[in-house]
Formats: sequence, structure tokens, C-alpha cells
Amino acid sequence: MKFTYYGHATFELEVNGKKLLFDPFITPNPLASAIDISTLRPDYILLSHGHGDHIADLFEIQQNSGAKVIAIAEIAAWLAGKGIADAHGMNLGGGFNFDFGRVKMVTALHSSSMPDGSYGGNPAGFIIYAEGKKFYFAGDTALTLDMKLLADENLDWAALPIGDNYTMGVDDAIKAAGFINCNNIIGVHYDTFPPIKIDVEEAKEKFVKAGLNLKLPAIGETLAL
Ligand code: NI
Ligand code: MN
Repeated sequence: MKFTYYGHATFELEVNGKKLLFDPFITPNPLASAIDISTLRPDYILLSHGHGDHIADLFEIQQNSGAKVIAIAEIAAWLAGKGIADAHGMNLGGGFNFDFGRVKMVTALHSSSMPDGSYGGNPAGFIIYAEGKKFYFAGDTALTLDMKLLADENLDWAALPIGDNYTMGVDDAIKAAGFINCNNIIGVHYDTFPPIKIDVEEAKEKFVKAGLNLKLPAIGETLAL
């Protein structure tokens, strides 16, 4: 499993020779100006919800790559009306076996609407089961007791939002790591906008003090998970 960070909550997971791009928001993010989206060729694009800071570059990257989009049913239907006919719609609690592994859509506590105001269904997180590993992406979410349902999944890695204001902040993300019973955390959804700027050194100290392994990859950096 390879994880490449593209800033905000955007990253690519490479599993079983397939590239899964999550929540593409790159060109509007000045911190990610070194990333050229025309070079991205994902096989799949997974969307946690419909907010602009998660789908801004969806259409261009999908057109360049022909990637199959995986999203909640309402977003899949919205995409069909925008010319992406074969998006794979799922819903909370459901899993599906793709050619790279299994995806389960899980609860996120947030809101979701499309950039044109259309209803976006519920926001979601994902668990990816591939290469004998389990990776959880929480999406945009508050700390929620539903995370305790993941405690017996034996997750290997979790990407959690830590930026506060729109999602969990550092303190709640540390609690979330306990709820999901996972020590290996990748922090996302921070520093992009003024309301979600965090004190990175303080965040690192808090995670270390909680006995957790926090990774904050640089934009463009790849981690072997
Ligand atoms: Ni959001
Ligand atoms: Mn967001």
C-alpha cells in the first residue's frame, strides 16, 4: 500500500497495482501548486462527500484518466447528470469487492451538498481492504461514537481530519484514534484555509504523548504503509 499526499484531504492510495484518488482538491489549493493534475491517472476516484474542497478537480482528472468514481448513491446520480455515467454508487454500511480490494462505506458526521446546491446524500468515510491491510479514511467528520464500531476491524492505518473548525481538531482526532483502536494516523484537512491552520508542532507532541504514530506527509510525499 502506497499513500501519496496531495494536500488538504486529497491523497492517492496505490493498492494491487491500482491507483485510488480520494477527494481531489488540488488546483484551488495554493499549498499544492507544485502538483500538476494533468499527470494524475487514477483508476478510481473516491468521494467522501460533495463539498467543493473535496471534488474541485474531479471532472478534469476523471476526463484525463477515465477513472471510475465511487461515491454515495446521490452523488453518483448527480455525476450521471453531469456526464459521468458509470459512477459506482454505494451507501452507508455497504461494502463492495472491486478489482483492487474491498471498499466499505462508513458513517461520517458532517454535511454534504454539491457545488450547485444539489442534495449530496450523507457524508461518508471509507475502509479499504487490500493487500491484507485495512486503511480507514474518515472523510470530513466530527468525533462520533459510530467510530467505535471500527474498533474490532484491526485497522492498520487511518487518515483523520485534524484541522478543527469544519471537522475534528487534534484533540478529538486523538480520541477518534482510541475509538477506532488504531495507532497509525495520517493527519489531513488542516492548514489549507485560515480557519483550519494548526500548530503542527503542538499536534505532533499531543499525538506522541497519547502514544500514537502521527504522520503529516509533505504535499507530494509518498509513504509506504
Ligand atoms: Ni466538507
Ligand atoms: Mn472539507
